[in-house]
Amino acid sequence: MKEELAKIKEQALKEIFLCGEARALSDIRVKYLGKAGSLTTILRGMKDVAPEDRPKVGAIVNETRNAIEQALTDMQKSIDDRELENKLANEKIDISLPATEIKVGAPNILEHIVEEVEEIFMSMGYDVVDGPEIEEDKFNFEMLNIPKGHPARDAQDTFYIEDEKILLRSQTSPVQARTMLAAGGNKPIRMICPGKTYRRDADDATHSHQFMQIEGLLVDKNISLSDLKGTFDVLAKRLFGENCETRFRPSYYQFTEPSVETDISCFVCKGKGCSLCKNTGWITVSGAGIVHPNVLRNCGYDPKEWTGFAFGFGAERLAMLKYGISDIRKFYQTDLRESVVFDRKED
Ligand code: DAH
Repeated sequence: MKEELAKIKEQALKEIFLCGEARALSDIRVKYLGKAGSLTTILRGMKDVAPEDRPKVGAIVNETRNAIEQALTDMQKSIDDRELENKLANEKIDISLPATEIKVGAPNILEHIVEEVEEIFMSMGYDVVDGPEIEEDKFNFEMLNIPKGHPARDAQDTFYIEDEKILLRSQTSPVQARTMLAAGGNKPIRMICPGKTYRRDADDATHSHQFMQIEGLLVDKNISLSDLKGTFDVLAKRLFGENCETRFRPSYYQFTEPSVETDISCFVCKGKGCSLCKNTGWITVSGAGIVHPNVLRNCGYDPKEWTGFAFGFGAERLAMLKYGISDIRKFYQTDLRESVVFDRKED
């Protein structure tokens, strides 16, 4: 039996050594170690071995089995390694091939202008804040000094959602009230809030039922219209160039007193008069004013101690002016050939 085992071992190791492939290796395993394999058959014959010889023969059987197992494992590893090497060699990247062009998106101009305005105001210490688009009448109107039934409401034809109480905000001004209330009436505030607003307007080249405003609010002590003028001047010059001039015209808003319209000098005709500025030399870009004492009081600030200014820009209008876009609907359509994305080459 000893010789037989030696022969099996020699034969198995030889076959394993010559085998170069996983499936053949698996056949060899079955042939020698499987249920009907040579070694297993020998083990079955152990019962015929004299009892005193059994430990010795058993040891040889074990040694043979271990040797075969070890050889199988080693060969399996070398087959695996070779396969991996082949795979890596075949998958070598050819760096001389031309690259596949990856189509990247470009920022929408609206987003781009909002970011520009945010950066300008952040450089002056303003926070950028957010507010809900589904708003309460209380914040959108009442706290801003526009009580129920007031004619000023008519100018903003509002989408009501629930019983004249819940609405889609018609302006970003409610965020002024929310910010003041959250601040607790005893700290200065500098914030801007860009956001979507909604009105029941029929869409045309200059009106959209959804549009974007950029609200601003500064509350502190001894704030006057000249602080607003200086701030507006910084914004206008950074957005439209160092030669941009600014002016205020008297206006009316319920939540500011006095109220103004802010104009910039026409950057197309440089003030001489053209179709963009309707021959006036000036272009209106926002409403603004000194925060009305009633609004400060409604929002927990004592108007004897605190003053502030506020403003509201139409973001699309800024972008349309700056980039010469003639139709507001272009910001919201999904036809890529027509939509206004920022050309990266000019970025
Ligand atoms: N909310 C105004 C509007 O939608 C714009 C505005 C005007 C905002 C004056 C202000 C402001 O904060 O002071 O027409």
